Parts: sequence; C-alpha cells; structure tokens
Amino acid sequence: MCGIIGISSNKPVSTIILNSLKKLEYRGYDSAGLATIHKGFINEIKCEGRVNNLEKNVLTSKSDGLIGIGHVRWATHGAANTINAHPHSSEKVSVVHNGIIENVTILKKHLINNGHKFKSQTDTEVIVHLITEYLKTNNIKNTITKVLNKLHGSFALGIIFTDHPDLLVGARRGSPLAVGYGPNENYLGSDSYALKSMTNKITYLDDGDFCILRKDKVDFYNSEGVIINKKILELSKEDIDINKGDFKHFMAKEIAEQPNTINACIKEYINKLNNELSIFNFPWKKEDFNKIILIGCGTAYHACVIAKYWFEKLTNLEVDVDIASEFRYRNNRFRKDNLYVFVSQSGETADTHAALDLCNKNKMKTCAIVNVVESSIARDAQFVLPIHCGQEIGVASTKAFLGQMLVLYLITLKISKIRNEINDLQYANKICQLKELPELILKTLKTETKISSLSETFSNAKGSMFLGRGHSYPVALEGALKLKELSYIHAEGYPAGEMKHGPLALIEEGMPVVVIAPRDDHYEKTMSNMQEVIARGAKVLLITNKSSDEIKFDNLWEKIEVETSSIDLMPFLLTIPLQNLAYYSALTLGHDIDKPRNLAKSVTVE
Ligand code: M6R
Repeated sequence: MCGIIGISSNKPVSTIILNSLKKLEYRGYDSAGLATIHKGFINEIKCEGRVNNLEKNVLTSKSDGLIGIGHVRWATHGAANTINAHPHSSEKVSVVHNGIIENVTILKKHLINNGHKFKSQTDTEVIVHLITEYLKTNNIKNTITKVLNKLHGSFALGIIFTDHPDLLVGARRGSPLAVGYGPNENYLGSDSYALKSMTNKITYLDDGDFCILRKDKVDFYNSEGVIINKKILELSKEDIDINKGDFKHFMAKEIAEQPNTINACIKEYINKLNNELSIFNFPWKKEDFNKIILIGCGTAYHACVIAKYWFEKLTNLEVDVDIASEFRYRNNRFRKDNLYVFVSQSGETADTHAALDLCNKNKMKTCAIVNVVESSIARDAQFVLPIHCGQEIGVASTKAFLGQMLVLYLITLKISKIRNEINDLQYANKICQLKELPELILKTLKTETKISSLSETFSNAKGSMFLGRGHSYPVALEGALKLKELSYIHAEGYPAGEMKHGPLALIEEGMPVVVIAPRDDHYEKTMSNMQEVIARGAKVLLITNKSSDEIKFDNLWEKIEVETSSIDLMPFLLTIPLQNLAYYSALTLGHDIDKPRNLAKSVTVE
C-alpha cells in the first residue's frame, strides 16, 4: 500500500503533487506529505490523516520547488502520525517509500553505531541515512546501486537531493512504479492512474530497475547500475471518470454502475453476431491442463470460490481454490498439466503477485483476471482477461467482484467448450442467459429501499452471521466481509450446514442472521438450517429470489427477493442486497464509506 509521486518540472510542483496525491489516496490515508527542493533546502510539509489536511499548508507555503516527491501512507512500521509521515529527510536527501524493508533492524543498528540519529519509527528512514552515507563517497548512480543492494524486502522509492536539484530517482522491487513523460516535465507514480491526467506516455519499471529522471530526460538502470532501454507505452486516452456524480460515495456509484459494467464486459467477450465467446488467443489446448487452481485475496478470493462451483459443474477438471498469502508459502505440487488463474482487481496485490511469480518460476501456465490492465499481475501473467469495469475507487470492492465473477464464468464456459464438456445447445443457452444479466441486476438494485430500512438492525448489533449453501456460501462470505470492513462490526460467513458443528452457540435472542437461499437444489436444506437459527432467537433476513410459489415462514424477520436468473448466475443477483446492506449500515454509523479505517484499496505489502 502507500502511494508515491515525484515530479521534475520547469514550474513549481507542489500543487501538481497535491492533486496526484488525491488520486493516490485510495492506496493509503493514514498520513500525507510532500517535499520539494527550494533554494537548496528540502521543504517538507506533512500531516496525519487525509490529503485534505495537507492542502491548506501546501497552498499557504511560500517555498515551492521545481522538483518534488509526495506520499500517502498506509502505516506498517510506526504509528499513523505526523512524525512517521513521509517524506523522510536528512539535510541532503528526501525519500518517499511504498513497501517494507525487512532487514531494518540490522541496518538501523549499524547506522546508529555510526552516529546516525533517527527521528521516526519507520523502516523508510534507514534508506535516507544509507543514501546520505553513501553519497559522501559515491556519485548518484553508484549510491543508489549500492543502497538498493543492501535493502531486503519491497520498495517503490522516490528520492530527491539538495546537491542535485535537477534530478529525481525512482526505484522498484516488489512494489509498482511507473514513469510518465510530459511537456518539459517528467513524473514518477505508483500507478498510471496517478499520472493519467498529466500524460498517457508511460514506462513501467521492472523489479530491480531504477531511474534517474530529469525534466527533459529519463535514464533507466538495472540492479547492477547498467544503463538499460525501456519501452514507452501509450495508454488509452480516455479520461478516467473519478467523480462521484450525484452519489454521496464512490461505493454507492459503483454499486449502481453494475448493470452497465456487466453489460460492457459482456459486450467485450460475447460476439453479438454469432453469440460466440470472443476469448481470443487462449493459449492452451484441452490436453494441456487437467487441473485448475484459482488464487486471490479478499473479495477476489470469494469470486474464485464461486467459480469452483461453476468449474465443477460445467467441466470435469479438478479444481482448487487458494488464498494467495497461504499458497505462496506452501509446499505446492507444481504439475505440468496445472493451470493457475490469478484474480485481482488492482493487479498489484503483493501476495497474489508473489503467488504468480512462484508459478512463473516453476514454469506453470498462468492466467490473470484483472481490472487494471497496466498492473504488475497483468504484465507478468502469460494470458490476461480484463474485467472491463472501469476504475473502482471505493475500498470495498463491489463492481469488480461482479466483473471477476463474470470473467470467471466466461472462462468456465470457454474451457468447458474446448474440452467438449458442454453441448452446443447448453452453451448457447448459457450465453443467452448471460445477456439478460444486466437487466436483472438493474431490477435487483430496486431492493435498495427495503435493505436500507433494515440496515439499522445490523449497525446496532454486536455481531451477525451470513449463511448459505452451494455457491451461496461464498456469497455469504462476501456479504460478511463487506459488512465488517465497512461497519467494523463482527460478521461471519458460514456454510449453513456447518452451524450445528459449533457456531450455533453464537446465536442469541435478536442476533441478525442473513440467510442466502435462492430456489436451487440446496433450498430445502438451507430452510431447515434457517429454522434452527430462528428457533434459537435469531432475527433472520432471508435473501432469496422471486418465485411463483410463495412460502411463508413463521417468525421470519424479513425477506428480500431478488430477480430470478439461471441458477449459475444467481450469485450476481444475491450479492446486490448484501452490498447495499453493508453500505447503509456504515452510513447509519457515520463511517467513512469509501475509506474504511485501517484499509487501503491496493494491498502492495504482504
Ligand atoms: O486488488 P485485489 O482484487 O487483488 O484486492 C484483493 C483484496 O484486497 C480486496 O478484494 C479486499 O478484500 C477488498 N477491500 C474487499 O472489499
């Protein structure tokens, strides 16, 4: 997490840095800061909390420079306060850092023994002291090469120097970093979103690379300090719509956008004329793989769990699902007929990226499903399927979750087709059903009014449970995750059939329980589990789909009916009221919906 920016220009840069930091704020909002070089001195402005807190001080500051760096922080080492806010500086050097330095203790001890004094509790400050030390006897290039080789862990760095006020150094290992090219100025940024309003010409640094950037020139080096050539990419010029429009929060906007984002994705992948899936260049033939392993974190992991049910239903493949942070440290069986699919909205999640790296190193087949197509995961996977849902700003993932499910469903169909495990008629039907999905999502969004009236019960509760069977179980996991990350109230997702093996003991009079039960093969069994929690005093909200045979339940607290799609596609519709339940519960509590406490949008540390 954390976001960094750097600019070398022929005009003052503070306001440009400030504006870019606003775009990067989704990566961290524990503190914000910037530094410029003005009349030979480092001018640091930093504050605890949001970029808005920084704005006033920046606008009233009399010292601005033509070169500068900025940072938004998601705290790792040291509390979220002004002292630990970046940039961190000595008299000669100022540094912003995204990542974690793992050998900080040993480096710090050594530096302290050599007389260095530390002001903060951050790991970043060791970089400042190391550079200051090496600069005494080395030029910039050699200093950076030597310092980077001393660091263990991950970093994206922006560095400025009082003795070289015309240049800015960028370096990366593990954490993402891009260089942008503008008229009489050049930029560094954690991602291309931060740079897109200034330029669409981008170079991504690879792991181990660093660059020396001036307003009219950028030189790239590898980890040995040897100059290298890098490609300049031209990103699509379409302006990123980062306005909330008429919505109070990005999350509300992103929930409402889902009929459109799903429609856009369907249009990308389903050929209108022949109803064929246009997943071109799929690099593997049916005999190339017999097992599929789906990997992600958080919401993306939940999309993977749902897809396991689809793969098992529509193909004969063996299917595993894994949490990236677990996968990367297990003793995995890398077999040559395994296909690994990595799901990530940001494409920068450190654990997912590390899991992908591990598979690439073991020469496995790797496919990425991402939203950010310029991301590290997209660049490093052998085959990429974008979810085409536009930038997601709210930290709680909503439209990306539906997009991930959609692409996972499409790839299930594609694989089922190439393996001849689905017949033409079934295949054609499933494509037709998909085309109806945007309209069904639109209609299901109408459940918002009712769910908003029920949300207070959840925001007043000590905790809640979300239950489901079959592919409604991962939907329950996702509903619980959404509620806890936004309302900060404990919520647990559980397989409905498992309750009697322990969690039933949690149920007490008035506890809100969401039962997710579409009219599928699991319905009757889930209804029995529902009765078991009602009998123990739970206040049950049943989320099911519209059906002609209305069933009445005694003592059921409330029911929400979503539209009816094919059974496969029900997770899309069942998710909608859960997103709104979390949104309205957090709204009642007055929480910061788009930036929940302790979280960040892009989790670039492990
Ligand atoms: O960018 P990614 O999809 O890799 O992110 C994975 C998780 O960090 C993310 O889904 C997280 O769980 C969301 N905040 C959930 O709403």
